[in-house]
Amino acid sequence: MQSEEIRQLFLEFFEKKGHKILPSASLIPDDPQLMFTVAGMVPFKPIFWGKVDPIYTRIATCQKCIRTTDIENVGRTPRHHTFFEMLGNFSFGDYFKREAIELAWEFITQILKIPEEKLWISVYEKDDEAYEIWRNVGIPSQKILRLGKEDNFWGPAGPTGPCGPDTEIFYDTGMEVETADGKEPNPANTEGRFVEIWNLVFTEYYQDENGNLLPLKRRNIDTGAGLERIAAMMQGVYYNFDTDLFLPIINRISDILKVDYAKDQRKDVSIRVIADHIRALVFLISDGVFPSNEGRGYVLRRILRRAARHGKLLGADRPFLYNVVDAVVEKMGKIYPEIVEKSNFVKKIIHGEEERFLQNLNKGLEIVEKVVRESGGKIDGKSAFKLYDTYGFPLDILKDLANENGYVLDEEGFNKYMEEQRKKARNAAGEVEFSERTEYESLNFHTEFVGYDTLETDVKVLKIKTDDFVDSVENVECELVFDVTPFYPEKGGQVSDKGVISFENGNFEVKHVYLPVEGIIVHKGVLKGRVKVGDKGVARVDMDKRKATARNHTATHLLHAALRKILGTHVRQAGSLVEPERLRFDFTHYEALTEKQIKEVEKLVNKIVLEAIDVETEIMSYDEAVSKGAMALFEEKYGDKVRVVKVSDFSEELCGGTHVKNTGEIGLFKIISEGSVSAGVRRIEAITGMVSLNYLKSLENNWKKIKNLLEANDRDVFAKIEKLKTDIKLLESKFKKFQKNMVNVEKLLEEVNLESNIKYLVKEFEGLEVETLREISDRIIDKGVDLVVFFNKQNDKVVLIVKRRKDLKKLHAGEIAKTLSKVLGGGGGGRPDFAQAGGKEVSKISDAKKKLVEILKEC
Ligand code: ALA
Repeated sequence: MQSEEIRQLFLEFFEKKGHKILPSASLIPDDPQLMFTVAGMVPFKPIFWGKVDPIYTRIATCQKCIRTTDIENVGRTPRHHTFFEMLGNFSFGDYFKREAIELAWEFITQILKIPEEKLWISVYEKDDEAYEIWRNVGIPSQKILRLGKEDNFWGPAGPTGPCGPDTEIFYDTGMEVETADGKEPNPANTEGRFVEIWNLVFTEYYQDENGNLLPLKRRNIDTGAGLERIAAMMQGVYYNFDTDLFLPIINRISDILKVDYAKDQRKDVSIRVIADHIRALVFLISDGVFPSNEGRGYVLRRILRRAARHGKLLGADRPFLYNVVDAVVEKMGKIYPEIVEKSNFVKKIIHGEEERFLQNLNKGLEIVEKVVRESGGKIDGKSAFKLYDTYGFPLDILKDLANENGYVLDEEGFNKYMEEQRKKARNAAGEVEFSERTEYESLNFHTEFVGYDTLETDVKVLKIKTDDFVDSVENVECELVFDVTPFYPEKGGQVSDKGVISFENGNFEVKHVYLPVEGIIVHKGVLKGRVKVGDKGVARVDMDKRKATARNHTATHLLHAALRKILGTHVRQAGSLVEPERLRFDFTHYEALTEKQIKEVEKLVNKIVLEAIDVETEIMSYDEAVSKGAMALFEEKYGDKVRVVKVSDFSEELCGGTHVKNTGEIGLFKIISEGSVSAGVRRIEAITGMVSLNYLKSLENNWKKIKNLLEANDRDVFAKIEKLKTDIKLLESKFKKFQKNMVNVEKLLEEVNLESNIKYLVKEFEGLEVETLREISDRIIDKGVDLVVFFNKQNDKVVLIVKRRKDLKKLHAGEIAKTLSKVLGGGGGGRPDFAQAGGKEVSKISDAKKKLVEILKEC
C-alpha cells in the first residue's frame, strides 16, 4: 500500500467517525514556546490547554513536523528523521480512553488489516483503566506491558503545557534479535525488532513551570502515528527509507551523483541523510524559514550543510541539492501545494546557500585532517570552534566526522569558545559588560518606572557610580540611580530617553539610560555642580524627543501588522530600532517589496492613523496574552506579567515600550527606504510626525530649486526638461558636423611627409571628438597616404590615433600606438591598421613625435 493511500484511508476513516479533517498547519507554529511544529497536536495546543474553546471537538489531520534533536542519528538508523508526517486524531473533551483505543485498533486491524498477533501494547504503569480497555479489546495480558513515565507519558510540547499518560501500539517486524533478559522478545527487552507505530496520549494534565501536574479543564485525546513507519509496515520493509516516500528521492540522488543505493553501507548512510534532509529543506523554506545564524534559520543551515557534506562524501564537488528538490515536489506536491508554488524559490535559496558553503567545505576538511593528524585523532575545542566560526561547520558535521572516523571531539571546549563569542557579540551590540552587571546586581531594590504616565517627577538619589559606587560627586560624568524615574531605559529596540535632572546644587544632563539588571534603571550623564546620595531632585524627560520616539514605536506596530496583512503571516519581526528621528524595522520576507506593495503598506498604516484610534495598554499574564492572540517574539523572554499594546483589532503586541495615546498623533507615516538585510530578511525605514513634515519640506524646496533653475512653473517643468534633453542632442550632432567641416583635409594633405619611403602625416589638434579624428584620418588614408598619426589634446590629456593603409604590409598601428602612448605616460594599442591610445603628459607630445620619426626610419 502506497503512502498516498494510507493518508487517505486514515483521514476517511476518522471522517466517518465524526472527525473534522483539517489540512496540515505550518511548520512554524504560532506558539512562542516552540521553534517548530513537533507533533500533530501543536496547532491545537491552546485548545488542549483550555485557553481556547474548540469549534470541533473531534479533529483528524496529517501534520508535517520537524524534530532535530537526534539529527546526528538521521541516516544511520532505519527510522530517525528531521521532517516527518504525523497522522493524528484528536478529541477535545469529547471521547476519551476507551473510544480512542477502539478507534486505533479498528483502523489498524480492520482497515490496514494488520494481523493482531503482530501487535503489542504498552501502557503507563499506573493506568489500570487503559490496561483493562486493552484487555477488553482482546489483547492477551502478556502482550500489554506496563512501563514507567519515561516510556508512557507524553508532553508537554514546550516548557509548560498540556500532557498526559499514553499507550503505545507496537508492530513486530519479526527480526531475529537478542533479548536483554533472555526471555521472549518484547518491545521493552529488545532494540529494533518492535516498531512503535502509534502513540495515544490521554491529555488530561497541565504541567507548570515547577513540574506540577494540574488537571485540565477537559479530558482530551491526542494521538500520533508516523506515516513513514506505517508505510514501512504496510510495504514490508525495515527501513523507512525503503518506502515509496523516500525511494523516488533516493533514485534522483543516485542519478545525479551517479552512486548506487543499497550497494555500500557507508554510501547508503550518506544517501539517506540527503534524502531525509532535502525534505526538511523544501518544507522549511516553503514555510518561510531562511538560512541564518540564529533560531530556525540556523537549524535550516545545519540541515543543509550536513546534507551538502554527505554529498561531498559521495563525490559531489558542485552544488547538487537544489536539483533534488523536484523529486520531493513530485512526490509530495499534491498533498502540500505550497511546495509546488515555492519550488523555484526553494531551489534558488538552496543553491545559493550550497554554493557559499562548498567554498569553505574543502578548506575546513583540510583543517580537520591536519588537526587530527597532529593530535593523534582529537579535535580540540578551539579548532572545532574555528571550524564553526570561519568555515561554517555546524557541530553536527563535526560530530558526524568524529563518528565516521573515530575521532574524539571536545564538545565541552567548543561550547566554551562559543559562549565566549556570544558574550563578545553581546557587548559589541551595546549591552553592558558583565562586570557592571554584577555590581548593580548586588543592589536589592527596584527603580520604579513611572514614565508611561508622566514625564516629570521628584526623585531621590540612591546610588552614584563613577568608577565605583561613591557617596557624592562634583562636575563629573557619572551614573545615577533613583527610587523612581520617568526615563525610559533602552530596550526592545527603543532608544533611551534624554533629559535633565535638576538638584538644588547642580544639574544632571541625562545622555543615556539603561538596565544593567532587570529592575535597576541607570542614568548615565554629565553633572554640573554637586550631588550626594539622598539628594532630592526633579527629573524631566525631553518631551519632544520622547513624543517623536513614541510616534515611531506605535508606527512600528502598525507597520508590522500592515505587512502581515498585505504580504502574509510569514512576516515576523527580525529586529527593530525606534528612535526619535526614524524607525527601522527588519522582518522575514523572501523578496523585495514592489512599489505597489510599499504604497499599499503606507496607505494602510496612514488609514489607521487617520482613524485616530486610541492605543490601549493592558497588563496581563503571559499565557493570557498569547492565548488572546498577541504577537510575541519567539526569542524574547517575558516575566509573569506582560504588557500588551493594542490598536483596536488591527495590532496587538507584547511590548514594554512607550507609545502615543492615539494613532492620530503619529502624523504622516512615510516609508523612505526598503532593502535587503540578509537572505530572507528585509528592512524598512520610515518616518513620522515632524520628521515627515521636514522631509516633505525638503522635497518641496528641491522642487522649487529645480523650477527656478529651469525658469519653469509647476505645469511646464517636465516639458522643459524634455526640451533641454532634445536641444542637447541636437547641439551635439551639430557640433560634430561643424568640427568635421572645420578641418580642411586638402590643406592637411599638403603637410604629408613625402620624403621618407613611408608617406605619413603627423598632426596635433585640440578638443576634437574622437569620431571626427577617425573620420579625417580615413579621408586622408583614402587619398593614398600610408600612415596618419593624430595627437588630440583634451583637458590635460592626449588622445592618440594611428591609422595605416590597410594594404600596406609594413608597420603595425597597434604597436606604434603602444610605443608612443608609453612616451605620453599612458597606454593602449589596437589592430595593425588602426589603433587608439592615450596619455596623461601633454608636454611629451614632441618627444612622441621624435619617437615616431625613429620608428619610421627603422622600417
Ligand atoms: N503528541 C503525541 C506524539 O507526538 C501523539 O507522540
